[in-house]
Amino acid sequence: MKPYYLTTAIDYTNAPPHIGHAYEKILADVMVRFQRLAGREAYFLTGADQHGQKVQKSAEKEGVSPAQFVDDITAKFIAMWDRLNVRYDHYAQTVDPKHKKVVQAMLQKLHDCGQLYKQSYGGFYSVRQEQFLTDKERGPDGNFGEEWGEVVELQEENWYFRLSEHVEWLRGYIKSHPDFIFPAFRANDVLNALEGGQDLCISRPVERLSWGIPLPFDERFVNYVWFDALTNYISFAGYLADEVGNEGMPDFAKLWPADAHVIGKDILVPAHAIYWPIMLHALGFSDEQIPRLIVHGWWNIKGAKMSKSVGNVVGPAELADLVTVDGLRFYLMRSMATGYDADLSVDRMIIDVYTGELLKGLGNLLNRAVNMAQKYRSGLLAASSYDDDLNKALRQTVAEAPARYSEKMNAWAIHEGIAEAWKIVDHGNKFVEDTAPFKLAKDPEQAARLDSILAHLAEAVAHVSVLLSPIMPDACAEIRRQLNWQMPDGFTVNDLKWGLLPAGHQLNEPKILFPRIELEGDKK
Ligand code: MSP
Repeated sequence: MKPYYLTTAIDYTNAPPHIGHAYEKILADVMVRFQRLAGREAYFLTGADQHGQKVQKSAEKEGVSPAQFVDDITAKFIAMWDRLNVRYDHYAQTVDPKHKKVVQAMLQKLHDCGQLYKQSYGGFYSVRQEQFLTDKERGPDGNFGEEWGEVVELQEENWYFRLSEHVEWLRGYIKSHPDFIFPAFRANDVLNALEGGQDLCISRPVERLSWGIPLPFDERFVNYVWFDALTNYISFAGYLADEVGNEGMPDFAKLWPADAHVIGKDILVPAHAIYWPIMLHALGFSDEQIPRLIVHGWWNIKGAKMSKSVGNVVGPAELADLVTVDGLRFYLMRSMATGYDADLSVDRMIIDVYTGELLKGLGNLLNRAVNMAQKYRSGLLAASSYDDDLNKALRQTVAEAPARYSEKMNAWAIHEGIAEAWKIVDHGNKFVEDTAPFKLAKDPEQAARLDSILAHLAEAVAHVSVLLSPIMPDACAEIRRQLNWQMPDGFTVNDLKWGLLPAGHQLNEPKILFPRIELEGDKK
């Protein structure tokens, strides 16, 4: 079977990682871990977008070379993904000579088949957005709005890509492939943007921008940063590897197309939904080789877009310090419906999610299961012939969860996948209240019933530790350590059946999974 090939956007290396970047990488990491848990081979590519005007400008400001500048920032991204347990198979860097060779070969191909031409153009240019502006971009007052930053008038020769030639093909492709963009409603934005499509300027003169990949057929120009960046999805997947002599690359024929390009809504139109499929189409990729786009929403603060200038950027490191890495991963996955925006609230993260759900829900259930088994049975799960409706109902919840969870996870509804697993957590805690094992423990006549309850609880928690493992890998490994149970090699979500912990199984000592967070001002 084809490996599941997933990429994220590659992050601009003009500023360090923020929570929006972290969300996207965690979302991707969760999906890749889930695919593996479902028994599928997966390949996860993420990386850094290191060329372009933004980087050149930021480096100039700091008085360092662009190469040095991107190296420093890239190291921060890599360290952050390491800390947040984002486990990718390769980290794409656009300064990589292997990538450069593929970009140049790709440009040469487009040039050779007449897809590129040179033309002189005069107009207004936004330095911040690195693009020429048209009247469409003018505000009601006739001026270019603040979002464009510094706007200068330019007249210059450049290379153009015959984008408009393929617009009709793309329109047809989008209409006949409802799965191309998730969530589907975003396809309308793309169709609207296709109206009046123009050709795309794909070069910048070296005098203006030297920090880029030179056009192989005209070295007075470097490649436009988006053309360079988008190509990472194929260059690091082994595209043209033999032709350009790239060794040690994945087998492109096996890996392509990407099953998911995970990106934010801000870079859907025009880059990913227009430029990218048209680039591939112009290069001769068939309709079956067009990748799928998974478009997530934005994290806002109290409804406002997060930005450095507003001064409300919340760092992933600070948040992980507060609620642990798994707490942050859980909060981000739990609190956003993939595709829609959400508000980031530190209060909600600490009070409702970490304390309310992780500590009082999952942590409590684990602690009850292991603690009571230790206290009443020295951690040994005994065989019991006792059964009743409460036991049966819990077994039913546990039995139903994996299939429902998998369906949601496969559909990118991670928050709903979590909710399916959480039904076991809630039911498990209610089961303790309904059966009151602490009372039964005082009555020797109830020994068989108590044994059955302890076994049911431990078994339920073992199931949860599998289902939530893509979202909270460390916490779930810790649950399994306390249960003294490991997932056997090659174990998949489909192998989840009642009886993971057989009679006679010995549990380890309990340990608090999610410690209470002491906030400033809390009385000790
Ligand atoms: N370099 C381009 C992508 C090139 S992909 C061939 C870029 N980089 S970025 O650093 O600005 O953004 C990287 C990703 O982070 C994008 O998918 C973007 O949508 C996402 N996010 C940036 N801020 C975000 C939020 N506040 N919330 C959620 N995701 C956001 O664009």
